[in-house]
Amino acid sequence: MPTKPKFIPAPTADLAAPGWPFSAAGEKLTVRSGILELMDDLGLAMTTDPGMRMLGGGNPAAIPGMVRLLRERMSEMLANGEDFDRMLGNYDPPQGNPRFLGAMANLLRRTFGWDVGPENIAITCGGQSAFFYLFNLLGGRLANGRRRKILFPLTPEYIGYADQGIEPDLFIACRPRIEIGTEAGPRFFKYHIDFSAVEAALSEHDIAAIAASRPTNPSGNVLTDEEVRRLSELARERGIPLILDNAYSAPFPGILFAPAEPYWAPHAILTFGLSKLGLPGSRTGIVVAPPQIASAVASMTAILGLANGNVGQQLVLPWIQSGRILDFGPGILQPFYAQKSRAAIAWTHEFFEPSGLDWALHANEGTFFLWLWLRNLKITTKEFYQRLKRRKVLTVPGEYFFFGMQEDWHHRHECLRLNYSQSADMVREGLQIIANEACEARR
Ligand SMILES: Cc1ncc(COP(=O)(O)O)c(C=O)c1O
Repeated sequence: MPTKPKFIPAPTADLAAPGWPFSAAGEKLTVRSGILELMDDLGLAMTTDPGMRMLGGGNPAAIPGMVRLLRERMSEMLANGEDFDRMLGNYDPPQGNPRFLGAMANLLRRTFGWDVGPENIAITCGGQSAFFYLFNLLGGRLANGRRRKILFPLTPEYIGYADQGIEPDLFIACRPRIEIGTEAGPRFFKYHIDFSAVEAALSEHDIAAIAASRPTNPSGNVLTDEEVRRLSELARERGIPLILDNAYSAPFPGILFAPAEPYWAPHAILTFGLSKLGLPGSRTGIVVAPPQIASAVASMTAILGLANGNVGQQLVLPWIQSGRILDFGPGILQPFYAQKSRAAIAWTHEFFEPSGLDWALHANEGTFFLWLWLRNLKITTKEFYQRLKRRKVLTVPGEYFFFGMQEDWHHRHECLRLNYSQSADMVREGLQIIANEACEARR
């Protein structure tokens, strides 16, 4: 007689949703972080709510010239089946594809004269993972009990760093000086590093690294060459690295509207990525660092994910080998975003100037964001963001970009980040609604 199959009870709702306690690290990494809210809103708007005006998130534009090049390159790989099969059928070493590492080191050496080889480079799953590795590698509790921090010399800084520390209070951030009225006009302002605040932080805390994005997300600020040199010197004197995030910078994608020398020094850790070139889906980050740091990043990759995705590396490899990738910034991306930036700034003037609002824009020296400062709202920008969302305009409220500060600062409640990379109609309408709603929320 056939035996009757044993009845296995299906999991109950209780079993499916257990109240298992999370570790301290688990708690820290599962908070409702700014970046999670941002990515949730962005993902939903892009997939389920086509009526939403998408001025939030950090998605780059689909630039026709770039899209065409990427499609052509993918077709070429498909036609040469071997490249395609190798790309999908193999694990890369955790440090990255050796051909890509060699080509990237060559490109940096011959373009900028930097003394780097493949041993100085490690690939990560996007710049985002690179920062998680670097901050937790260098910052936090050392084996001897010392607790070291990462110092951001100028806040506001990139929202994506805010919750990356496995240990609490990993970050210290300095308030900048604000220049009101710039070469661009009286409605513009610019942040500058307050070096006395940076030196005070360096002497009061055990700092493991100084870090900054350049151009800065959210403000579009570009640290001047002089500011970078001074930071680098401060780091060198203290025997710590200077970490510079080049997500929008040269050699690619080169979304820069102000002069800025690419910077490298033996104690610098630089990050680059393919996302803002138009490949955020490939999740490719590039770390350029002393060999010990590059190989530490590779060790972390092996533990976290065995290897990185290699699609991005394979797609751009011939352009890195030939140097053609250097043309995309000046030839395609920079003119595209510069035009978008000019249009968004003109619309901001058009809608805000007659409103009587007390408003200003950060000098837009790079990135694809406007950083709008609204000085006479009776509500915080977090509340303002909710109101705008109800009116189908998605932005990012400023509060999230001021992490690591020791004291509250009213300025953090007065700014809004606006992504202007989407269609002209969407950005124009979005700005009009923001001006409108700001009038409603005026003190
Ligand atoms: C300043 C900055 N750094 C790093 C990243 C991370 O980008 P990805 O992980 O896509 O390389 C971003 C993304 O928006 C960014 O703006």
